[in-house]
Amino acid sequence: MAPHLVLPEPFTARPATTADVPAVHALVGAVERELLGRTETGADGIEASLTRPGLDAAVDSLVVHAPDGQLTAWAWINRGRRAQIDVAPAFRGHGIGSALLDWTEARAAEVGTDWLAQNVDDKDRAGTELLRSRGYEVLAKNWQLEMPVAEVSVELPEGFTVRPFQPDEARAAYQLIEDAFDEWQPRRKSYEEWARLSIERASFAPALSPVAFAGGELVGAALCLDLPDPDDGYVEQVAVRKDQRGRGLARALLAIAARGFRAQGKHNLTLWTHSDTGALAMYERLGMSVRRSTTVYRGRVRAAG
Ligand SMILES: CC(C)(COP(=O)(O)OP(=O)(O)OC[C@H]1O[C@@H](n2cnc3c(N)ncnc32)[C@H](O)[C@@H]1OP(=O)(O)O)[C@@H](O)C(=O)NCCC(=O)NCCS
Repeated sequence: MAPHLVLPEPFTARPATTADVPAVHALVGAVERELLGRTETGADGIEASLTRPGLDAAVDSLVVHAPDGQLTAWAWINRGRRAQIDVAPAFRGHGIGSALLDWTEARAAEVGTDWLAQNVDDKDRAGTELLRSRGYEVLAKNWQLEMPVAEVSVELPEGFTVRPFQPDEARAAYQLIEDAFDEWQPRRKSYEEWARLSIERASFAPALSPVAFAGGELVGAALCLDLPDPDDGYVEQVAVRKDQRGRGLARALLAIAARGFRAQGKHNLTLWTHSDTGALAMYERLGMSVRRSTTVYRGRVRAAG
């Protein structure tokens, strides 16, 4: 058993490996179907979480099994700062979630951080209640927005050319996106970490990911994933270089992405935005509306003793 983990009987835990990805994906799918009525997460997203540089699955992840081998829960913690816990609907009420929360806090203390954040769906009453009962406070919000692809028309502002993402543009896209997100995200990702979570994923759809150029330089991108939901086309990241903003480029990139997904038979364009970006108002101006929201809770980590 992992250090600092006290699981209720008769469950057992061990670190996750990539061999667990299909079972974890099934568990996360069951959680999403219960909360949302559909599966949003792809298996490649689970694999990306477990293999991202900076997270050592041998000490930063756990899978919890019932005696008959059923997967009942999983958890991970990244750099002692961000944790995720999912308990299968059929195994709620046994205290597995509390035990995993204790483990994430102990692991954070071991890493030496002073606070720990968890992102919880606003419909997840039990998860929200558990964090609040431990004194966690709201740090930020995430909103998932959607827009019917049928309603989108493309108007490319003058001075830009747009075409699908090419693999040799990966470094330039990384630079553009991390520069843009640096304006609000607390930590810049390495190229390897960014790539693992975006363009190296099996669901990354380069042909559906428009990139924009001005004067031969890459100045805008909308990187898209082809996720399991048959209705939704998903934008993983959208960014426009600072000196090119306010000219309608993000609007055009999202419209081009929507057109591509429409041709694939999808009905909606969806994306997530974080409250710290200040971009919610922009998406609403583009005709998108909030479909789902999550809250990032932050709790104090007690020093390891
Ligand atoms: C968000 C971002 C992609 C917008 O790019 P942009 O090319 O300047 O956007 P557009 O010019 O296409 O603007 C589209 C519409 O949204 C509006 N808009 C743009 N930014 C806005 C903001 N922060 N708040 C409110 N409205 C905004 C524009 O006025 C425009 O509306 P209009 O056509 O009715 O006038 C860009 O600011 C960026 O890269 N930011 C950093 C990265 C980021 O936060 N990405 C999104 C997070 S999920």
